[in-house]
Order: sequence, then C-alpha cells, then structure tokens
Amino acid sequence: MSSKSVLVAVGLLVVTALVFAAGWHFGSHPVRAVASSAPAAAPDGAVAWQAIAAPLPGTQIDAVRRGVPVDQEGDPPPLARVENADIKRLRAYPMQPPTIPHTIDGYQVDKNANRCMLCHARANAATFQAPPVSVTHYMDRDDQFLATVSPRRYFCNQCHVVQTDAQPLVANAFRDIDSLIARPEAQ
Ligand code: HEC
Ligand code: HEC
Repeated sequence: MSSKSVLVAVGLLVVTALVFAAGWHFGSHPVRAVASSAPAAAPDGAVAWQAIAAPLPGTQIDAVRRGVPVDQEGDPPPLARVENADIKRLRAYPMQPPTIPHTIDGYQVDKNANRCMLCHARANAATFQAPPVSVTHYMDRDDQFLATVSPRRYFCNQCHVVQTDAQPLVANAFRDIDSLIARPEAQ
C-alpha cells in the first residue's frame, strides 16, 4: 500500500465517524411533529383546532385554498368567464397596466409575431380604432426611446390580463390616491 492510499483511507474513516456522530446527535431529539399533529383537547382560551383548520374567508393566510385544510383536496372553483364587452375598467392607480377589454383567444405573441401590435402599434391604431401602446412601451431601461416596441414591453400578457368575472381570492383594503386625498381630516 502506498502512503497516498493510506492517507485516503484514514480520511474516509474520519469523515464516516463525523457523519455518524452528527446523525446520532440530530436524530436523538424528540420528534415534535407527532405530538403536535393530534387535535388535543384545547385548554381554556386556546385557539380551537377548527379555527386553525378553516379560517374565515379573508382572514386566512393561504386564501387560494379557500379554507380547505392542507390534508384535504377542495373542489376546484368554476373557470372564470372572460368578458368581451369593450368596456374599460377603472385603473386602481395611474401606472396600472389597463386590463384588456376584449378576448385574446388565439392571439400569437412570440419571437416571430406579435398579434397585439397588429392593432396596437402606432401605425395601425387608426385602422383598427385601438388605443396605441403608450410611449412607455417604446422606452428602454435608460428611458431612451426606441423606434419599435421595447423588448421589455414585447410580451404584452406579462402585464396585461383579460377581464374576467372572477372574484378576488384575497381580500384587501387598498384605497386609491383620489379617495385618500378626498378623505375628511377627522378620519
Ligand atoms: C383586432 C385588433 C386588436 C388586437 C389584435 C388586440 N387588440 Fe387590444 N384593443 C383593441 C381595441 C379596438 C381596443 C379598444 C377597446 C375595445 O374596443 O375593445 C383595445 C383595447 C385594449 C386595451 C385597453 C386599453 C385601455 O386604455 O384601457 C388593452 C390593454 C389591450 N387592448 C391589450 C391588447 C393585448 C395585450 C393584445 C394581444 C394579446 C391585444 N390587445 C390585441 C383591438 C385589438
Ligand atoms: C412591463 C409591463 C408591460 C408590458 C410587457 C406591456 N405593457 Fe402595456 N402598459 C403597461 C403599463 C404600466 C401601462 C399604463 C401606463 C403606461 O402607459 O405606461 C400600459 C398601457 C397600455 C395601453 C394603454 C395606453 C394608453 O395610452 O392608455 C395599451 C393599449 C397597452 N399598454 C398595450 C400593450 C401591448 C399591446 C403590449 C405588448 C406589445 C403591452 N402593452 C406590453 C405595462 C406593460
């Protein structure tokens, strides 16, 4: 045996011993999960098991689960219907990407073609009576104006979504700036 392979063998032994010791140390702790997973009889004042399993709508952390406990599977909600009414929705704040007031089924947006720009490019907007994309869509990240739509604004659906009749999954108390300005002093 050469001195090199002896060194390697000793090194392996030391590593094995360390791994074993670590496993012994961490493995010897009591397993907490088993103890806390059973719905123990709650002492007075403690939060009842039911309250944790099914929080009220709007107060739960993961509202997407709609109150269904994590170990159960809920019924999927019906698919939202896309609205196609040509009616603009209020923007919650000035820089919100407006929602799309028409269906976009089958509109191709990829490296080869951008269907949206057929109508929303400045040059075509008059023909299709569509609002042209605003000037920000031609700006690069240094605020320089490009001749064509900026790569960072090319994939329209990154920011713009169709309007649907889906209800909000998570409650929120957002108020837009107009209602804040109009708020009486007393409040
Ligand atoms: C056939 C032409 C056409 C195509 C293609 C088209 N749009 Fe439109 N778009 C319109 C017209 C016209 C309007 C004005 C409102 C209306 O008539 O629905 C509009 C309105 C919008 C608005 C609302 C603007 C605002 O100020 O509220 C957005 C956002 C929008 N389109 C995004 C898109 C996106 C994203 C695509 C591609 C997935 C797309 N459009 C494809 C014609 C088109
Ligand atoms: C990175 C996000 C982003 C992408 C990508 C994007 N937009 Fe927008 N868009 C916005 C924002 C934010 C606004 C509102 C403020 C503004 O005009 O910049 C807007 C506004 C618009 C408007 C209304 C313009 C006006 O004058 O009111 C239209 C129409 C529109 N976008 C269409 C498009 C189309 C078509 C594409 C794809 C070619 C696209 N957008 C890609 C963020 C985006």
